[in-house]
Amino acid sequence: MVEIEELDGVGPAIAEKLKEAGYDSVMNLAVATAGDVMEAADIGMKTAVKVITSARDASKMDYELASEILERRKNLVRISTSSPALDKILGGGIETRGITEVFGEFGTGKSQIAHQIAVNAQLPVEQGGLGGKVIYIDTENTFRPERIVQMATAAGFDPNTALDNIFVARAHTSDHQMLLVTRAMDMAEREGVKLLVIDSVSALFRIEYCGRGALAERQQKIGRHIGELHKLSELKDLAVFLTNQVQSRPDVFFGDPTVPVGGHVLAHATTARVYLRKSKANTRVAKLVDHPGLPPESATFQITEAGIRD
Ligand code: GTP
Ligand code: MG
Repeated sequence: MVEIEELDGVGPAIAEKLKEAGYDSVMNLAVATAGDVMEAADIGMKTAVKVITSARDASKMDYELASEILERRKNLVRISTSSPALDKILGGGIETRGITEVFGEFGTGKSQIAHQIAVNAQLPVEQGGLGGKVIYIDTENTFRPERIVQMATAAGFDPNTALDNIFVARAHTSDHQMLLVTRAMDMAEREGVKLLVIDSVSALFRIEYCGRGALAERQQKIGRHIGELHKLSELKDLAVFLTNQVQSRPDVFFGDPTVPVGGHVLAHATTARVYLRKSKANTRVAKLVDHPGLPPESATFQITEAGIRD
């Protein structure tokens, strides 16, 4: 592994500034934009391009064979949701190195699934987990440690350990939320984090950027945020799980009058998107929507005392 200090155009002072700004690995620099690096290290365009180019040379960013990708995807580990039916439509569970988004109306179980996987990510692989820790970014103040205790106990996992393996942060603004993701980049490897949850990814953006005039700016910022989350999941080999509210669309008369907040930007950027709706007798229906490699199937699950179940 090449260190940042060894790159062309990087002296100790620049290395220091880059690290302070969150560029803690060569790979991280290789996927950065010149503008960001210029700002982070207080250097000119020419140097920034040089740094990024040598970072790209140093990290393997060339083509690879489809067979190699297949081999790697076979080894992709997933976090079980505790509902085999839901796991099945997701191709086995919540995927690492990708972003899974669930969206739906209030009370459809978005936060409950988030709690469930925050427990399950800690379980050993044989039990549907990744044996890792969890970062939980809570924007709506709906994280409940009591629920973690209930779900861990039901899974036969020590509840105190479960609580100690979840780093919770309450985000107050969208900028704060984005900063927390930068922090997560630093923490992930050191702490052995395997899952990052943001519940909800869009709420703060929606409050801060309201009205038609602010839409473009909001979309741009959400797009950047999702880009960072992709980088995080790829570079640190972890799963990102986002919840998203649906927005009422009075102009839509046919079909479902609700669309997820963030619309387009999120739609094309997330790996798996799951639409949740309430159904009869306290059950919930999850539908996988526009997934690049899986059919758009539905699954029924329920929210029980013990957690998410078929
Ligand atoms: P918003 O955040 O408001 O958009 O909703 P959400 O989609 O996050 O809903 P959430 O995951 O909070 O689901 C709420 C539902 O979960 C409730 O209506 C309950 O049916 C169920 N629920 C929550 N806690 C418990 C619990 O301790 N036991 C049981 N049996 N059900 C619970
Ligand atoms: Mg919720």
